[in-house]
Formats: sequence, structure tokens, C-alpha cells
Amino acid sequence: MHQKVRKAIIPAAGFGTRMLPATKSVPKELLPIVDRPILDYIVAEAFASGIEHVAIVTGRMKGAIEDYFDHAFEVDVSLRNAGKHGLADRMAQYTPVTGSISFVRQQQARGLGHAVWTARQIVGDEPFAVLLPDMLMVADEPCLKSMMDLHARHGGNVVAVERCAPEETHKFGIVSLQSTGGDPHVVGLVEKPAPGEAPSNLFISGRYILQPEIFDLLESQSPGAGGEIQLTDAMIALMSKQMIRPFEFRGRTFDCGAPAGFVSANLHMALARADLGAHVNLEIETLAAARSAVA
Ligand code: UTP
Repeated sequence: MHQKVRKAIIPAAGFGTRMLPATKSVPKELLPIVDRPILDYIVAEAFASGIEHVAIVTGRMKGAIEDYFDHAFEVDVSLRNAGKHGLADRMAQYTPVTGSISFVRQQQARGLGHAVWTARQIVGDEPFAVLLPDMLMVADEPCLKSMMDLHARHGGNVVAVERCAPEETHKFGIVSLQSTGGDPHVVGLVEKPAPGEAPSNLFISGRYILQPEIFDLLESQSPGAGGEIQLTDAMIALMSKQMIRPFEFRGRTFDCGAPAGFVSANLHMALARADLGAHVNLEIETLAAARSAVA
């Protein structure tokens, strides 16, 4: 039996420049997908997958993230006094159990790898998950849950991968795989390969299960692409010592850290809601009819 994955790190200290100017004053991770912050969906995925403790890495201008996960006492009382118990209950539903969430400051945004390393003392000497908060991954079973099941069977490291069109590989971190006795594992990882040079069309998505040895690798690592401490560089070093298994995610992923993915995620999630789906559908049909009338 492999050691259970109990803790998850959610790095949320980046500048979110692709969503400027909104992110001048609102953390990217709190931008709403319909009426819940992106980060709320990610924290919910972690707990629904069996994670017991979530460590969120924050930084300057990110204080509102901590407030979001607090019990909003005055709002709760005022809603209940007004008889709006449904709304108050909905708010409470998304408040994590006391003690199950903690926050750690990354004093300088030195990259994703550095953000993960920042939470090392909360994780300690055990395997842990990393969830990128701008990647909304929608499936019947949460992506992280499927990865935790794979980890429970085999141990080691697990990385979520997805397929992209061959002409899109230059946008992503691409893995090469080898299969030993039907057990595929990652043997190479290349960031944004030049067109035609990608070893596969499988890209690293937003979820990882990592062994704690990665913290030492991150600590001694020099800055890589963009002058940042990159998680992928540490994973390349880890690959020579430990097995990294791929989990191919087949749901829908939205990169909510950029306008196109953010808008698509809002549409997708609103259409899926019983209270909003018909309204949004009608809006889309009205827009489409207006466009075809002009054309
Ligand atoms: P991104 O590169 O997507 O986020 O990092 P970013 O830097 O905030 O966004 P852009 O590129 O400027 O638009 C993935 C995740 O890692 C976190 C980010 O907050 C994001 O959730 N991150 C990144 C950190 O926590 N610290 C860092 O130093 C860098």
C-alpha cells in the first residue's frame, strides 16, 4: 500500500498578466466563473478527490483570497435575518472545514517551481498534489481523484496529460512516453518545442502528484525559462530517479488564466447550470440569429 496523498498545494501568487487590467486589483484566482471564483472550483476538486489539507500559496495583493475562504459572519446573519436561508446555506456549502486550508506567502514571484517549494514545510515528507488554479478541468470524475487512484495502485509520481493537435505542440510542455510491460511512464519533457520537433502531442496539464524529494531538487535548482524556477525542470531531474506516470485526462480543460479560456469556461459552466442554462442558450441563439441576419 502506497502512502496516501493527503495534502495539496495550489500556487496562486503569480501576477496574472494575461488577465490585465482586471488583475491590477483582483487576484486572477478570484475572477468568477459564473458566480464562484475559479479557485473555489479547484479547492472543491481537491476535497472531492480525497485531499485532507489544501495549502494555497499567495503573495502581495492576494489577501482577498484568504478572506474568501473565511466564514462571512455578517453576511450570513443578515441573509438569515432576511429569511434568505437558501443563499446563506449555499455560501456555507463552499466554506472549507476549519483547519483544512492554510496559506503561505511567496514573497517574490520566482516561478511555479518556487511557489511549490514555498509550501514544503506544510507538506513535510509525504507525497502531495499540485493543482494549477487557472486550469479548470471538467469531467464526471475529478481529474485529481483519478490520479489519486492511479497513485494508490502504483505509488511514484503522476502527471495529468492531454492531447493537442500536432500543430499546437509549440504552445505546451510536451512529454515523451515509454512503456515497460504495458506500464507507460514519462521519459522526456520539453517546454514549447519548435514546430515539427515535438516528441508527441501529449501536453502536461494542470494537475500533478509528486514525491517530496522534488523539494530538494527545487531548492538547489537554477532559474530556467523566463528567469523563473520551473517545476518542469525539477521534474526532468526527478525523472532519472523516480517513475513519473501519465494520467491522460479526457474531460474538458479551460485555461481560465487567459481571456479566451475564461470566456469559454463561463459559457460552459453557465450552460450546465439548471437555473441558467436555458437563459444562456437563448442568448447564444439570439446572437447567432442576429449575426446571420447581418451576413
Ligand atoms: P501562470 O504562469 O499561469 O500564472 O502560473 P501567472 O504568472 O500568474 O500568469 P500570467 O502568465 O502572468 O498571465 C500558473 C500558476 O502558478 C502560480 C500562478 O498564480 C498560477 O496560478 N504562480 C506562478 C505562483 O504562485 N508563483 C509564481 O511565481 C508564478
